Amino acid sequence: MSAGDAAGGEAAAGATLYEAVGGLPFFEALVGGFYDRVEADPVLRAVYPDPDLRPARRRLTLFLAQYWGGPDDYDRERGAPRLRMRHIDFAIGPAERDAWLRHMAASLDELDASPEVREALRRYFEMGVEALRNRD
Ligand code: HEM
Repeated sequence: MSAGDAAGGEAAAGATLYEAVGGLPFFEALVGGFYDRVEADPVLRAVYPDPDLRPARRRLTLFLAQYWGGPDDYDRERGAPRLRMRHIDFAIGPAERDAWLRHMAASLDELDASPEVREALRRYFEMGVEALRNRD
């Protein structure tokens, strides 16, 4: 799987993961908890160029919702994801990758989600961050 260029997210019995978690509020909470941690982490915060993280928050929320089977608002606002290309200007080495993953995992831990959902998201994020790493 590339880091999100294809649509995905079929969960059990034909339902999408987006539906299984109850739709957009879950992704808003996941990304909200994640970016609160980014804001408080000097190493990771330094990677994000914009002083205002709200637009970034919105983009990641819409992207994840779309990726996991929700509406295609991300594509309509931003065009094709092409995530590797969109991350090429940010220095993502092992430290940044691990911090990103740690904050996302901590945010996910706070949410009410089934073991299947947790596992699917965990696997996706682990593969995704490594695919976006562009520094040794
Ligand atoms: C599975 C892992 C990841 C996913 C799914 C992801 C997804 C995204 C998305 C959808 C955007 C907005 C792109 C746009 O529309 O312009 C974005 C932006 C960004 N990402 Fe990631 N990303 C991941 C990992 C990382 C990592 C590991 C870092 C570095 C620590 C990182 C740093 C950034 C930065 C600095 C931006 C710019 C903020 C913005 O404009 O949204 N990302 N990412």
